[in-house]
Amino acid sequence: MCGIVGYVGARDAQELLVASLRRLEYRGYDSAGIAITNNGRIEVRKSAGKLQRLDDLLEDQPIVGTTGIGHTRWATHGVPNDVNAHPHTDASGDFVLVHNGIIENFLSLKEALLEDGHEFRSDTDTEVLVHLVADEYDGDLLEAVRRAIGRAKGAYAVVVMCAHEPGRIVAARMISPLVVGFADGETFLASDIPAILPYTRSVLVINDGEMVDINADGATVQTIEGEPVHRTPMEVTWDAGQAEKGGYPHFMLKEIFEQPAVIEETLRGRLQSDGSVILEGADFPAGFVAGLEKIWITACGTAYHAGLVGRDVLEKVLRIPIEIDYAHELRYRDPLIRPGTMTIAISQSGETADTLAAGRLATELGSRLLALTNVVGSTLSRDAADILYTRAGPEIAVASTKAYTAMLIGTYLLALRLGLERGTLTAAGAAQLAGELRALPEKANRALDMDADIAKIAGRIAGVDDIYFIGRGLDYAVATEGSLKLKEISYMHSEAMPAGELKHGTLALITEGTPVVVVLTQSHLYDKTISGLQEVKARGARVMAVAYEDDTEVAKYANHVLRIPRTADFLSPVLSIIPLQLLAYHIAKELGHDIDMPRNLAKSVTVE
Ligand code: AGP
Repeated sequence: MCGIVGYVGARDAQELLVASLRRLEYRGYDSAGIAITNNGRIEVRKSAGKLQRLDDLLEDQPIVGTTGIGHTRWATHGVPNDVNAHPHTDASGDFVLVHNGIIENFLSLKEALLEDGHEFRSDTDTEVLVHLVADEYDGDLLEAVRRAIGRAKGAYAVVVMCAHEPGRIVAARMISPLVVGFADGETFLASDIPAILPYTRSVLVINDGEMVDINADGATVQTIEGEPVHRTPMEVTWDAGQAEKGGYPHFMLKEIFEQPAVIEETLRGRLQSDGSVILEGADFPAGFVAGLEKIWITACGTAYHAGLVGRDVLEKVLRIPIEIDYAHELRYRDPLIRPGTMTIAISQSGETADTLAAGRLATELGSRLLALTNVVGSTLSRDAADILYTRAGPEIAVASTKAYTAMLIGTYLLALRLGLERGTLTAAGAAQLAGELRALPEKANRALDMDADIAKIAGRIAGVDDIYFIGRGLDYAVATEGSLKLKEISYMHSEAMPAGELKHGTLALITEGTPVVVVLTQSHLYDKTISGLQEVKARGARVMAVAYEDDTEVAKYANHVLRIPRTADFLSPVLSIIPLQLLAYHIAKELGHDIDMPRNLAKSVTVE
């Protein structure tokens, strides 16, 4: 994530940049900063923490000027502190830039720049870009930026200023979003439209592979290869509040729809074409992986449900015992955690009190702690020996969706990395899995196409007294998360259980019209689950099945079938959770609940 802005005109740039960043804070709030050109010099102010801290700093040390850039950060490389905050400058201080995205080859670029005598101040991937621009500059900022980004691989929206060319800003886009806004005698840049809506409604969206060169009179756009681009700006008709949610009525829905991009982002630069995996935050000592005797997984809530998938995945790939427990149980259990084991603590926020305590206990008992978390610099990441960041971006809705999916992807990456090193996964097996993983963003997009159909089904279930979610194996793990999603935002009683467990008691509760959701993607368990489904059907249940699009059998037994694209059964949780998230969302909407902030709950549970 991260939010970026730029301004050239006649207004006080400081005030405008801070106000614009405030409207982008939902994209990240680890740190913020601005740079303004003033009398041929660039001045920078930046600070860790929310935008308010930058605002306080600027009150003490204001910057005068009418051309500037700004950034609000969601950390990906380097902890959130003052030094890692953007903007970043080169050694001379004549070049300054802000960046949203990830420079995948920053390590090799940095090594080359260090050899050439460049000195680095931050731990960010971004800083290499400003050194490259300074190196490439010979009097024309546009050409310097073009050559610099030609050396970088990855995702970026980058906005650059140079002290020698006042009143000019150059920006480029590859994957990360960027828009230009036009008004009389002033031009704006931003990650998205709401940031600049108070100043203009005339906006041009910059496409991947394009560069834009702005001054107070307007902008010229061209491709990175130098081909001129002529497009007419659009006139924005919607309001800023709507736009912050990307046009979605709730953050939860927006975050559900962000999942294809999140899957791609979490894989980016890590999954290699041969199936091998680079995990930049995991540095296992020699022999550790080969000698690994057992893995513990610990987490709470949705993260625990991701861990249930992780248990089955890691067990299948690594062929060692994997034990999972809720963090609030594990920490008081006197568990037999031994040296020679690994403990994976999973937490979106990295601040859940019980998960931190369980992780610390595991470390005390000699286990090597790996943090699977979404928040760079979180307490969990600082406690852990190894870190796997999930790159889901800030998750605003209390009901977790995209962070769950990113945790699943993190687990698959870990399984590949450890399985190849232990030799329990063949190179051919890894390459095949890698191919399937790479296809997931597009398949997740197709799964989202069911949104309108699910909204109709939701209307028929909203408000029933009880609902049950069943499945076997990985389908059971997904059922637990589907059930939690529903209960936390619909306030309906919902229960998940392994399909085989029904007849041991719960079947007594199934009567005419009781809704039962069955997840049905695991081929080796298919017939068994179908018999469970027949048992509930015989008692009058209204059955909703989540199944592959080419499943011709399931419609004989289910009242509604929510279809997902076929993938390897092993990866199906990434897709089968999508209809369940949408079902929960539409039921809660039907009931008129506060979807993003459900009653009694908080985004991050930092107390026991
Ligand atoms: C899920 O929708 C919930 N908001 C909740 O269960 C959450 O997953 C749990 O509190 C753990 O949070 P964490 O991932 O930040 O540790």
